[in-house]
Amino acid sequence: MSENIIEMTDVYKSFDGKPVHRGINLFVRRGEIVTVLGESGVGKSVLLKEVNGLVKPDSGKVMVLGEDTAQMDEKQLVRIRKETGMLFQGSALFDSLTVEENIAYPLVENSDLSPEEIKKAVTQNLELVDLPGIEEKYPGELSGGMKKRVALARAIATRPKILLYDEPTTGLDPPNIKRIAKLIKSMRDRLSITGVVITHDIGTAYEVSDRVAFLYEGEIVFTGTVPEARESNISTFRNFLDSKM
Ligand SMILES: Nc1ncnc2c1ncn2[C@@H]1O[C@H](COP(=O)(O)OP(=O)(O)OP(=O)(O)O)[C@@H](O)[C@H]1O
Ligand SMILES: [Mg+2]
Repeated sequence: MSENIIEMTDVYKSFDGKPVHRGINLFVRRGEIVTVLGESGVGKSVLLKEVNGLVKPDSGKVMVLGEDTAQMDEKQLVRIRKETGMLFQGSALFDSLTVEENIAYPLVENSDLSPEEIKKAVTQNLELVDLPGIEEKYPGELSGGMKKRVALARAIATRPKILLYDEPTTGLDPPNIKRIAKLIKSMRDRLSITGVVITHDIGTAYEVSDRVAFLYEGEIVFTGTVPEARESNISTFRNFLDSKM
């Protein structure tokens, strides 16, 4: 298998005749954390959904773990989605279920683990996101930052190889933003989960990323390391970064 765990080539996508992606080219190496930056509405969330097959591109290739998700049927996509977890914009926890039931959900659905093994896995995942012992709580009893971490514990329950983070820090205060940034890195370091991150927070992008990509008018117009991003003189990217400082 190639060392690129994700490889998007010439991806085009329009909605109702309005082009969103006009030839996306982007690769992510195994074990990397890559952040995609860009203005609101530019097509960042759609890009993540193309990776896990929630959105089918009009043309182009989206190779994930060596297979083209753009060509997959629903059954094949279910398999690839187990390998590519998604932390959605907003936590999307089930409010009527406890924290334990929320995290257990993907394991009950997608694994052969016994109830005892699932319980153990829930405990372990809560420890991984630094929230031990809150199994019995309901989402309504948690802060926004805690909800995000429980959603992360659920997203890693099936040990995906890739995790897609859609604005994981939005709405959080600085200490919680730091905490999430640390967790994104620890998911990679402790569980070898490759990360693709979307964020409006340049500080988080610089902190977590091995490489940064900039999406502008339907194309990736910059990719590079954080030092390269800081030095970039591509004017559209420069203006974007300056507007965030
Ligand atoms: N399922 C859909 N049907 C029609 N249009 C869509 C659909 N999904 C996304 N779009 C459109 O595609 C464009 C890009 O949307 P996307 O959600 O990817 O933006 P984004 O970069 O994630 O923005 P934000 O930073 O605000 O989250 C928008 O114009 C949006 O309205
Ligand atoms: Mg979005």
